[in-house]
Amino acid sequence: MTSRKPRVVLGVSAGIAAYKACELLRRLTESGHDVTVVPTADALRFVGEPTWAALSGNPVSPQVWDGVAEVPHVRLGQTADLVFVAPATADLLARAAHGLADDLLTNTLLTARCPVVFAPAMHTEMWEHPATRANVATLRSRGALVVEPASGRLTGKDTGPGRLPDPAELFEVARHVLARGADGRDLAGRHVVVSAGGTREPIDPVRFIGNRSSGLQGYALARTAVARGARVTLVSANVALPDPAGTGIVSVGSAEEMHKAVVEAAADADAVVMAAAVADFRPSGYRGSKIKKTEGAGPEPIRLVKNPDILAELGENRRPGQVIVGFAAETDDVLANGRAKLARKRCDLLVVNQVGEDLTFGRPDNEAVILGSDGSQTEVPRGAKEALAEIVWDLVGARLKPSSPPFPPEGPGGRPLPGDAG
Ligand SMILES: Cc1cc2nc3c(=O)[nH]c(=O)nc-3n(C[C@H](O)[C@H](O)[C@H](O)COP(=O)(O)O)c2cc1C
Repeated sequence: MTSRKPRVVLGVSAGIAAYKACELLRRLTESGHDVTVVPTADALRFVGEPTWAALSGNPVSPQVWDGVAEVPHVRLGQTADLVFVAPATADLLARAAHGLADDLLTNTLLTARCPVVFAPAMHTEMWEHPATRANVATLRSRGALVVEPASGRLTGKDTGPGRLPDPAELFEVARHVLARGADGRDLAGRHVVVSAGGTREPIDPVRFIGNRSSGLQGYALARTAVARGARVTLVSANVALPDPAGTGIVSVGSAEEMHKAVVEAAADADAVVMAAAVADFRPSGYRGSKIKKTEGAGPEPIRLVKNPDILAELGENRRPGQVIVGFAAETDDVLANGRAKLARKRCDLLVVNQVGEDLTFGRPDNEAVILGSDGSQTEVPRGAKEALAEIVWDLVGARLKPSSPPFPPEGPGGRPLPGDAG
């Protein structure tokens, strides 16, 4: 291990979201990365060279003809630890997919042997066009991580998929990809479903029965799965956290809504991780108007009925090869209760953690034992929820049936193709 700063090439192409890359750049430099910004010539129409140079502390040029003595068209890619393109325009994706080398950024993409990430941003029509879909598929097949754009307001009055995700969340992708290094995209080509947060069971228009789950563990699972290359559906219940970049988010409120969303998403999923705290019971009836405190009379009892058992249903109806992971929050007899639950729900893995007011909920750290249906037991010491998430994906990955390889094994001459190392 050397102590040099990790080297990041931040490619910026000519999308309206280029200004958001300034924030990503700041986060990268402030967290100790040596960043060289490589804009396309048109990107400089949106944000000028002085901004990139001042924020990065490195010279900036879009073309191969500056500083030729240092051969920047090969040196930048060869020496980078990560190439991250944000925003990636439809045009840039096309040029990269076809191996063009008509400016410094595309030369860098061809010479890079480190992980390569594209964060596309464009109008929905451009994103959904078969040409763009094919280019994205090509780049992914070569090992690049292409982060799904967010849905929302686009330039002008349009809304839909095509927005550049929040720069803070793109930074999280960069951080995770850098940490995992060259072999990090082990979930490429997989669809995983993660549930997060806590359901709320409505009593009347203003009251509900809820729980203390913050969604932090589920969001950590979603973030880490994106960085490992998976297509991630995040079914999120009542969470006040920013959307992790690259995930398809389905927002739900109650356990019944969570049930419907998870079952739907699980239909073509390779793995489902149920990290959400789902209410076992809900009030038997919903009162359409606020229940009044009537003078003198005591409170009316609330009758509860059972909610669908999502985990048990997933365990029973799993499609062949699908890996099902449950979470068990226990306050007493943690392991004994966990083992019983694992058998009852027929899941492959059960992450058992002790919960209490100050133990897990809302905290950035967690500690757990992961029980396997094969009798395995993995102790995870207290640490960041992301560390636990990585171990969950390691165990899931080990249980997934091999799929056709996401990357061609070799390029011409037996050398890995560009981005294969990623
Ligand atoms: C105001 C404006 C906004 C644009 N925004 C985008 C965008 O968000 N995504 C995109 O793919 N192209 C966008 N384009 C089109 C690209 O700028 C154009 O395709 C350009 O040739 C891309 O060059 P580059 O890929 O070399 O950076 C925009 C153009 C204009 C004039």
